[in-house]
Amino acid sequence: MSDRRIQLVKGDITQQRVDAIVNAANTSLRGGGGVDGAIHRAAGPGLLEECRTLGGCPTGDARITKGYDLPARYVIHTPGPVWQGGGVNEDALLASCYQSTFALLHDHNLKTVAFPSIGTGIYRFPIDRASRIALREIRRALNENPSIERVVIVAFDERTFDAYTRALMEESS
Ligand code: APR
Repeated sequence: MSDRRIQLVKGDITQQRVDAIVNAANTSLRGGGGVDGAIHRAAGPGLLEECRTLGGCPTGDARITKGYDLPARYVIHTPGPVWQGGGVNEDALLASCYQSTFALLHDHNLKTVAFPSIGTGIYRFPIDRASRIALREIRRALNENPSIERVVIVAFDERTFDAYTRALMEESS
């Protein structure tokens, strides 16, 4: 059975009214393209200012900042792995992005979160593989954290929405 706390929506993560949205960042935490660029544009310059004080973040780890002009109270920045064929620990590093994010949610007592599809844009992680890893980690974290109320997966495009739909169906079958 799929967990009722997981929702898949099509849309723009910057519009999500949740405790924290997750940013598919890079290790510099200085902004970038894709969802990172969209989040920085919507949050305003305060976000980059705070990010500059953090001194970067290793791949698979996560850092939390305030949300500034976003409807979300916090942003959790996590750099995914650059896909290099699967032989350099990409699966475990992607799983670690989700684990690190849930650890921060727990530490800050946050109950609602929205994720983009980490790694599957500019970093080219194969979408079917990434969506299975994402859902496995999300479900595991929900089982361990009854206080999490809602996890929204925000698919920006049809391809991403379809891949997560398939992965959700695999899980519930
Ligand atoms: N809302 C939700 N999802 C979005 C949005 C948005 N506003 N904009 C883009 N996306 C989607 C992409 O379509 C893709 O499905 O986020 C997913 C992740 O893609 P990227 O943003 O390219 O992230 P990633 O593959 O992890 O690459 C990270 O991109 O910009 C840089 O600084 C970032 O260098 C890092 C790299």
